[in-house]
Amino acid sequence: MREVAVIGVGMTKFGEVWNKSLRDLFTEAGMKALINANVSGSKINAMYVGSMSAGRFVGQEHIAPLVVDYAGLAETHIPATRIESACASGGIAFREACMTVASGMYDLVVAGGVEKMTDISGGEATETLATAADQEWEGFFGMTFPGLYALIATRHMHKYGTTPDQLAEVAVKNHANGCLNPNAHFRRKITAEQVLEATRVADPLGLLDCSPISDGAAAAVICPLKDAHKFVEKPIRVLASGQGTDTLALHERADICTMEATRYAAKAAFAQAGIKPKDVDLAEVHDCFTIAEITAIEDLGFVEKGKGGKATEDGMTRLDGEIPINTSGGLKAKGHPVGATGIGQVVELVEQLRGEAGKRQVSGAKRALAHNIGGSGASCVVHILEVPE
Ligand code: COA
Repeated sequence: MREVAVIGVGMTKFGEVWNKSLRDLFTEAGMKALINANVSGSKINAMYVGSMSAGRFVGQEHIAPLVVDYAGLAETHIPATRIESACASGGIAFREACMTVASGMYDLVVAGGVEKMTDISGGEATETLATAADQEWEGFFGMTFPGLYALIATRHMHKYGTTPDQLAEVAVKNHANGCLNPNAHFRRKITAEQVLEATRVADPLGLLDCSPISDGAAAAVICPLKDAHKFVEKPIRVLASGQGTDTLALHERADICTMEATRYAAKAAFAQAGIKPKDVDLAEVHDCFTIAEITAIEDLGFVEKGKGGKATEDGMTRLDGEIPINTSGGLKAKGHPVGATGIGQVVELVEQLRGEAGKRQVSGAKRALAHNIGGSGASCVVHILEVPE
């Protein structure tokens, strides 16, 4: 297998982007990534596009050839493949792209992700997102994603004594980080009181415990590490990639406070990288709801099971903490255009590892982890990136 590097990244602003279509969003992110990588589109060998539900959000399926065509590359006839794994679609598109480069099949590949979620009503978006849950056991009975994560939060509180204040700290921190990210959906600070007093969505989760419904796209250009310096000064090595699955329905799990797909993917990624969680300088984790960040830092091994709330309260995950989590603002504040989220995480890590993250820069960052999950944790992908020596 060849070693793989990211040589360029690009993303649109995440948010309610009413004046750009799905194809505009992907093209913008893709062009930015190509320019960032100093690569001409005509040199790309293949493209992977993460998208959860373009059919329901904008009535458009078959988007892989569409984005190649709209980027002006139709005459190259390159293979283009859409990847769907709910909210992990982007992260898995990145993994697939890395594997084709590692295998020697392709030398220059674009991994992208896109979702245009705000063209339908909030209710329709909730229903569309809920298609990633188990339709027979959950969706049919009216279960939604805020509802599923509310069950996880309630159980975590009962089992480990996690408090609403600790959940609120996740949102406060991520909004503070989002203020420092020009591409974030929300760039406003919030207080713990505002989180605790916000309208309840699914108790104990309120409006400010939830990631928003966002539009956006992100892209990354990947090539063999040995060739990367031909294109850019600061390539970033993809040190490891792990992917896991779990039951679709929550009630089938032995313990809903633990995401076994995350544990499986993380174990594979850490084994491949030959490092431990303590060797990671920062991480972008899947905080679709505040409780999800807490379970993620536990399941990834940054803190002991059940101690995620306390660690968050103690400031361990802040920008200046022991392990900064979601420096971009995370899904909570940067936004969560589901198909784009996993690649958006890679964009943040690459900027951090290149030392280009501006006011949210983690000083001396050498190694970083991205954790992207689908639905309530039935799929998960973990990547570890590092500055090559
Ligand atoms: N965090 C902070 N503010 C939010 C927000 C969020 N998640 N969602 C909406 N807002 C703000 C809006 O900007 C708007 O502010 P304004 O009045 O100043 O313009 C206000 O709240 C109302 O927005 P609206 O779009 O009417 O909210 P809504 O009630 O329709 O939707 C949620 C709010 C939380 C239900 C929706 O964002 C949601 O479903 N989030 C979860 C998405 C999800 O499940 N993703 C998949 C995860 S697996």
